[in-house]
Amino acid sequence: MGNNWNVDSWRNKVGLQMPTYTDEKELNEVLTELKSLPPLAFAGEVRSLRADLAKVAHGKAFLLQGGDCAESFKEFSAEYVKGTVSLIFKMAVVLMYGTGLPVVKVGRLAGQFSKPRSSDTETQNGVELPSYRGDIINSVPFSAEARKNDPQRMLRAYNQSAQCMNLMRAFCTGGFADIHNIHKWNSSFVDGQNNERYRDLVNDIDRGIKFMDSMGLNSSTSSNLAVTTLYTSHEALLLPYEEALTRKDTITSEGKDWVNTSAHMLWIGERTRQLDGSHLEFMRGIINPIGCKISDTMTPEDLITLIDILNPDNIPGKLTLITRFGANKIEDYLPALVEKVKTEGRHVIWSCDPMHGNTESASGYKTRKFENIVKEIASFVKVHKEKGTHPGGIHLEMTGANVTECVGGSYQVTEGELSDRYHTHCDPRLNHNQALEIAFWLAEAFNS
Ligand code: PEP
Ligand code: CO
Repeated sequence: MGNNWNVDSWRNKVGLQMPTYTDEKELNEVLTELKSLPPLAFAGEVRSLRADLAKVAHGKAFLLQGGDCAESFKEFSAEYVKGTVSLIFKMAVVLMYGTGLPVVKVGRLAGQFSKPRSSDTETQNGVELPSYRGDIINSVPFSAEARKNDPQRMLRAYNQSAQCMNLMRAFCTGGFADIHNIHKWNSSFVDGQNNERYRDLVNDIDRGIKFMDSMGLNSSTSSNLAVTTLYTSHEALLLPYEEALTRKDTITSEGKDWVNTSAHMLWIGERTRQLDGSHLEFMRGIINPIGCKISDTMTPEDLITLIDILNPDNIPGKLTLITRFGANKIEDYLPALVEKVKTEGRHVIWSCDPMHGNTESASGYKTRKFENIVKEIASFVKVHKEKGTHPGGIHLEMTGANVTECVGGSYQVTEGELSDRYHTHCDPRLNHNQALEIAFWLAEAFNS
């Protein structure tokens, strides 16, 4: 635990991007109730994620983090969660084979509800209302009622996260996580003409599985093959909610360690990473692995200061730097940051978010081009290869559903098709095929 830190010491600092609630009594009642509710993520699980991420920091594993930009109350169903979870499993198998490393799977799910916005208000036809800030805070329709900050939404978000976690835990065991099933799904991805170039990789995996089968290694003989681990994560933006779900770990640390039980891993967004701000203050005191988004506005000197605040003991795997420069900027900015961190001997995981620096507008929709996403990942891998550092992970906004929000990919979503199934509450996500294609493409890039 950091010096002079307490679970509410963030309240003494300036916290950006957080709502104000008009009814303080109601807010406090909600927070009191949240404090009494059971953990969603448990201290033991948080500690195993720390151990898994330490391997990533040492170049001995790869981190796959992905899911919705913003989860929503409306879109939630067992089917929907199954789509995202199975997509993560499919990508993990491809990446495991391609990188030759174990893949640590972390969903942007079961709690990814609050969003930073570039403007506090939105104006439509001359009417100005507060911006939508995620379902945990207010709601999408453009009306004064919908855009009001409502503390009760925190309880609904908590409950939905608990339901999501329950589904996730079920999907991680038994047949669903069985490598044979996952591989069957992946094989059907390359059945179409479009993905012919990935067929060799699928055939290689096929041979690997057949070899395991002939060795008698299967889900009934080895529990490792039947069960998998999927961790949860979200942006720790809404600090009153995060504080209410942060508890002393009385089992392993005799109350010394504070664990955030809203998710296994949390990250700080690009807009809330001020060195003297509330978000860094809160995050420096919890034992969970944390991420921090980094763009071209970060200097090498500030990066070292930030690392030392968030990971003063330089523990490998504790801190993941999630870079999001944009395809055209990454090669100008990433090398100096990597060089500085390397020469100063700080242990971090470098992960690539190829989404947030590549957002653009087309036909009235916020979108991202598949080719730019791939280009940023390619530059990320190249820079790390040149510097001799580990391109440790990838951070994607994606969904198992067949949405049309990003343009391109081998199944060619065109700009004209964006309106067909544009469902996101916030940023455009890769759809099922686009995300899986990224995994296949990355598996190749790692070996070239
Ligand atoms: C996000 O991950 O949805 C996000 C808002 O990213 P960033 O903080 O990098 O802008
Ligand atoms: Co986003």
